[in-house]
Order: sequence, then structure tokens, then C-alpha cells
Amino acid sequence: MISDTVKFLLNDKILEINNPNPNQTILNYVRTEIKKTGTKEGCAEGGCGACTVVLGELVNGEVKYSAINSCISFVPSLNGKQLLIVEDLVSNDGKLHPVQDAMVKFHGSQCGFCTPGFVMSLFSMFKNNKSYDGELIKDSISGNLCRCTGYRPIIDAAKSLNKVDKKDEFSKNKNKIIKLLKKIKTKNIYINNEDKKFFSPKTIKDLKNIIKKNSNLSFLAGGTDLSLTVTKERKEISCIVNLKEIRELDFIRVNKNYIEVGATTSLIEFENEIKKYYPDFYSVLKRYGSVQIRSVGTIGGNIATASPIGDTLPILLSLNAEVLIEGINKRKLVPINNFFIGYRKTKLKKNEFIRSIKIPLFKKNIFKAFKISKRFDDDISSICGSFNFEIINNKIKKAYIAYGGMAAVPKRARACEEILKNKLLTINTFIKAKDYLEKDFMPIGDMRASKEYRLEVAKNLLIKCFVEINTKKLTRVI
Ligand SMILES: Cc1cc2nc3c(=O)[nH]c(=O)nc-3n(C[C@H](O)[C@H](O)[C@H](O)COP(=O)(O)OP(=O)(O)OC[C@H]3O[C@@H](n4cnc5c(N)ncnc54)[C@H](O)[C@@H]3O)c2cc1C
Ligand code: FES
Ligand code: FES
Repeated sequence: MISDTVKFLLNDKILEINNPNPNQTILNYVRTEIKKTGTKEGCAEGGCGACTVVLGELVNGEVKYSAINSCISFVPSLNGKQLLIVEDLVSNDGKLHPVQDAMVKFHGSQCGFCTPGFVMSLFSMFKNNKSYDGELIKDSISGNLCRCTGYRPIIDAAKSLNKVDKKDEFSKNKNKIIKLLKKIKTKNIYINNEDKKFFSPKTIKDLKNIIKKNSNLSFLAGGTDLSLTVTKERKEISCIVNLKEIRELDFIRVNKNYIEVGATTSLIEFENEIKKYYPDFYSVLKRYGSVQIRSVGTIGGNIATASPIGDTLPILLSLNAEVLIEGINKRKLVPINNFFIGYRKTKLKKNEFIRSIKIPLFKKNIFKAFKISKRFDDDISSICGSFNFEIINNKIKKAYIAYGGMAAVPKRARACEEILKNKLLTINTFIKAKDYLEKDFMPIGDMRASKEYRLEVAKNLLIKCFVEINTKKLTRVI
């Protein structure tokens, strides 16, 4: 069944938008058409959190809440979901929601511009968890910037939520919301608004039919990269094909040799699974963007951008992952080491999409990864280094080393790997090997780091890796 109408809940009311502009952002829609202006625009690129809204979605029969950046999400992606904006948090009886109340009591707001965004991020945290420790609180607000408060009062407000009654009007209305969400979540969306199209198929079969019949299409996953074409470059996207509603692309399967991740699996779902196998992969993901970015951003989208500073890319290179590519008639498994072919270019041919990523489980190897960025949270890497060593009897049998931010593509350090092979695990081995990084990379300087800094840090990460292996201690800020 097909519809050109986007149906969603605005709090507990069904709203329908017939044939919306597929390039309109949720932020723009909320402010100009719903005419609620609590949700603010700061940066229009997902970096400040002023535009944070919460989406409710049915997952295994329960409503799961996710804070997202409405400035970089398109209106049709609301289909089948509940949209919660800051104005909805005031209870019917006029009392403040516990999150708002805590912000008032602990002086979490000064000029107030960032406050609606913080409230929505904390609301999502409040609804999805039973208790709130420092780590969870900091993670939950890592995508919200405040110029006035210095954050401490906001963190204190969040901590105080441990002591309040968890019941709110949303828990009271839960059954009603579940019923309404079930009622509206059914159809494939096909929009044709003037010269712009938007397709949201539910199966790969439907996706392939759309691919066959349309040209010049752009696949949309989390949109944390693609949407910036509209909000920053001020261009239009003529034909968007949303992959996010296709269940077959959203999964995590584990067997004894590898973990396979569907391309549209959100980074936030993936981080909790990968933690069990590669804790350093998890640590890097925790510093990837913010909760808002990781709630929608996908592993397939990260790989498809082929960004030289994409965080998962060097890690997947050093883990010898494989990318399952699908076209209309065939599938192929490509080693990720052959996937990036130039600056922001991949092996993907026109109309091919990533179906999944297979990540081998090196159970006996030592794996380490480091992200270096100017700011600890919510910042893009200057350099990312990833190291995977097979060590037997204190000898390095195999080394798989990859860096991001050191070349036009994320890349393996082949010369460095070769010199480490069959050498004893000693500091001298690593001191010698680090100079081979000069053969592997000729980095450029840009606003994030100079070329000299990049090379020096890349070398230092290799030494840091040895120190951590040798001392069995972590030497890093966590
Ligand atoms: C505020 C902010 C912070 C960020 N921080 C980080 C960070 O710390 N680290 C980092 O690495 N990146 C970061 N990014 C970049 C961005 O999050 C990533 O590039 C993201 O992973 C893209 O995934 P997505 O699902 O949002 O992709 P989208 O934006 O939906 O798509 C990106 C590109 O991939 C294509 N694509 C998507 N899925 C597929 C598929 N299955 N098959 C084929 N093509 C596909 C799309 O057509 C598009 O060209 C940040 C972005 C923002 C806005
Ligand atoms: S306006 Fe800054 S994150 Fe959306
Ligand atoms: S209270 Fe002014 S920016 Fe946060």
C-alpha cells in the first residue's frame, strides 16, 4: 500500500501532511507551520542541540524515545512516529514536567536559548532509563551547547531526577499512544511535490522497484550528512529514497566468526553490541557526534560518505571488515580495504546500496583505537588510529593498522605493518616502526590540524599503543 500523506502524532493528536516538501526540515515545519517557536535554530548543522526534539517510536510494543536534531531531519521521516516538542512537556494541569521543574530549581537556565534543547535531551534520558548517573547524564547532553551556565547546574538538575516520581502524563497516556502509533504505521510513502520526490519503501523488493523507475536518486539513512546539502549548501535534493524504514537493513547478527550489521543500524544500537567484542570501538563511538547524531546516523551512512575523518572507517579497515553491496540484480562482498577509491569516492556504482557490513571477530588479537579531536565530545576527528595485533610468544605475527585524517581516504599503514611483522614486542621495535608512517602517509594541514601535528600524533599513537599493551594499562583520558 502506498500513500503520499505523512501521518504522525504531535504529542497525542494525529496530524496528516499531504504531499509535503521532502526537503523541509522538521525544525522549519514546527516553527513556521505548527507555529511553536520553543524549538530553536542555532547552527542548522546538528552541532548545538538548540533544535532538539524527541521522536517516539514503537519498538517491541513499547514506545522508545530518541532525541534528534530537528534542523537536519526531513519532514517525511516523521511518518509513523510521535513528535514531542518542548511545548508538549507542560502537563495538562499546567504544571511543569519534572525535567523542566528540575531545570528551574537548579538554575539550569540563564539566557534560555539552549534550554528547550537541553530539556528535550534530558526528557529522552528520563523516559528511557530508570536511574541517571554522571556518565549517562554527560552522554545525554553531549550534543547540547550552553554559553551561559557552565553546565554544572544542568548536570545537578539531571542528577536530581533520580529522586522524583517517574510517572508523568506520558506514562499515563502510554496505552493510548501505543494504540495511535499502531494505527498510523502502515504504508510506503511516495511523495511527488512539484519537482521533488521522496520514497520510503518498507522492503528491499520495493526499493529495487523504485531504483528501476527513477534516476538521479539519493539514498537517505540517518541524514546527518545528506541533509546538510539543504541546510548548509542551500541546494535542493530532487529525489530522496529513505532506507530507514526497510527492516531487512536494520539488524545485528553475531556468529562465532563475525558480527554482521545491517547498513541502517543506528550507531547508538551498534555501540552497545560492539562493546562486548571491541571495547575501544565502543569508546570511539561514544565520542562520535552526540546522542542526537548517533540515534539517527547509521554505520552504512558513515561508510558510504568515505570521509577521510569518518570514525568507523579506520577501525573497520584494521578489522578487515567486508561490505555487502547490493544492486538490482546482484550482491557482492567487497573487502573494506578495497572499498574507498578516492576522496569521498567508493566502489559503489550508480544505484547500488550497502546492505550490511561483516566485522570479523579476532578473539585472540589485541585491538586498540584512539580518536584525537580538538574537543572531547561532539567533535570530528583530527586523527583516528586503529590497531589490531596478533601476538604470539611476545612476537608480532600480524599487524593491521589504519588511520583516518592522514590522507584523502582512510587508509592502512602497510609499510609500518610490514616492519612490525615477526618482530619482538619491544619499545625499540615500535620506535623504529613509527618512522615508517612517513612512507605510508603525507598528510595535509587544514583547520583541524597541521600536517606536522598529524604525523607526530600518528607516531605517538603507535607508541601509546605499545605502552598500553606492555603495561596492560590504559593511558588515555576517558
Ligand atoms: C553534528 C555532527 C557531528 C558528527 N560527528 C561525527 C563524528 O564524530 N564522526 C564521524 O565519523 N562522523 C560524524 N558526523 C558525520 C555523519 O554523522 C556521518 O557521516 C554519518 O555516519 C552519516 O550517516 P547517516 O546515516 O546519517 O548518512 P546519510 O546522511 O543519510 O547519508 C550519507 C551518504 O551515504 C549515502 N548512504 C547512506 N546509507 C547508504 C547505504 N546503505 N548504501 C549506499 N549509500 C548510502 C547517502 O546517499 C549519502 O550520500 C557528524 C555529523 C554531524 C552533523
Ligand atoms: S540548530 Fe544546532 S543542532 Fe540543530
Ligand atoms: S542558558 Fe544561555 S546558552 Fe544556555
